[in-house]
Amino acid sequence: MTATKFTPRVFSGIKPSGGLTLGNYLGAIKRWVDMQGPSFETVYCVVDLHAITVWQDPKDLRDGTREVAAGMLASGIDPEKSILFNQSQVPEHAELAWIFNCVARVGWMNRMTQFKDKAGSGKDAEKASLGLYAYPSLMAADILLYHATHVPVGEDQKQHVELTRDIAAKFNHDFGVDFFPLATPVIEGPGMRVMNLRDGSKKMSKSGESDMERINMTDDADTISKKFKKAKTDPEPLPETVEGLSSRPEAKNLVDIYAALSNMTAEQVIAQYPGAGWGTFKPALADLAVDKLAPISTEMKRLMADKAEIDRLLARGAERAREIATPILRQTYDIVGLLRS
Ligand code: AMP
Ligand code: TRP
Repeated sequence: MTATKFTPRVFSGIKPSGGLTLGNYLGAIKRWVDMQGPSFETVYCVVDLHAITVWQDPKDLRDGTREVAAGMLASGIDPEKSILFNQSQVPEHAELAWIFNCVARVGWMNRMTQFKDKAGSGKDAEKASLGLYAYPSLMAADILLYHATHVPVGEDQKQHVELTRDIAAKFNHDFGVDFFPLATPVIEGPGMRVMNLRDGSKKMSKSGESDMERINMTDDADTISKKFKKAKTDPEPLPETVEGLSSRPEAKNLVDIYAALSNMTAEQVIAQYPGAGWGTFKPALADLAVDKLAPISTEMKRLMADKAEIDRLLARGAERAREIATPILRQTYDIVGLLRS
């Protein structure tokens, strides 16, 4: 089965746990903005039900949901062009997830590397929530509730999108239908795996110990500059060709960030700075990042001052999302044989 009988539709989401990082921006939001337009219908979601798979303070969760929405809007997600909402306002996500809990196999879930990373092993893993374990089936529901065909995510989410395809294929096969599309993960370009600025072997994440290891989308210009200038590197200057970046994770990360922010390839960045020392490259990178991110963070702060407006936009987005989601869930119930009397 191909996805061709389905309307080209994009779905993607970000958890409102902690703030947004440069990784979220380059791995996700920046590309979501670019995908708005005539080729796709675009549906973007603040996935609050995913966030609560680990403990969230209720007030922080509400504020974080608005902050992520503000980050998306400030980056250029246009609520006229895209459907933008928070997951829990469309209860169909949780309903479809239950059906998928009954389609997905325990063996599939056991292979999910994100669960293993987050839950740890042995006794620690036993303390993880059941929701954290079932998380990928909720993610499949997010995507398939809209019959989405394309899912722009960072590299770390590839396995979950592949699982979504497995769930769709098994559902279609078990019930003898051609109902759910096999969604394609869209993971391309240099910003798909932004690494920690203090340790190039770890992903940049919202929850690391030190704030110096990540760029937050709310950081001001001075903070952004300082973090890039203090970013860990090896003592060598930049190489003359990209091949010279292999086995130099910190150097590669900074070049990739430069490339992603400037819409260039890593090759082009190296061609512009062949053999440059860090004293040249880091300030150039810091200026570029400030140039791109400072206007977004200013706009985010402006938007966050008007919570009522964000809430209004999310409620309207949820209404539009339900117009697509409700009929798809109803048809799913019918296919499964759940009586609607
Ligand atoms: P999360 O914040 O975990 O909900 O992630 C939301 C989106 O941002 C997903 O598409 C992730 O793949 C992407 N993302 C998060 N961190 C990074 C990173 N360090 N590099 C690239 N993409 C990322
Ligand atoms: N699991 C994703 C993450 O942690 C967030 C997410 C939830 C998502 N549902 C989604 C991403 C659907 C893409 C499509 O980053």
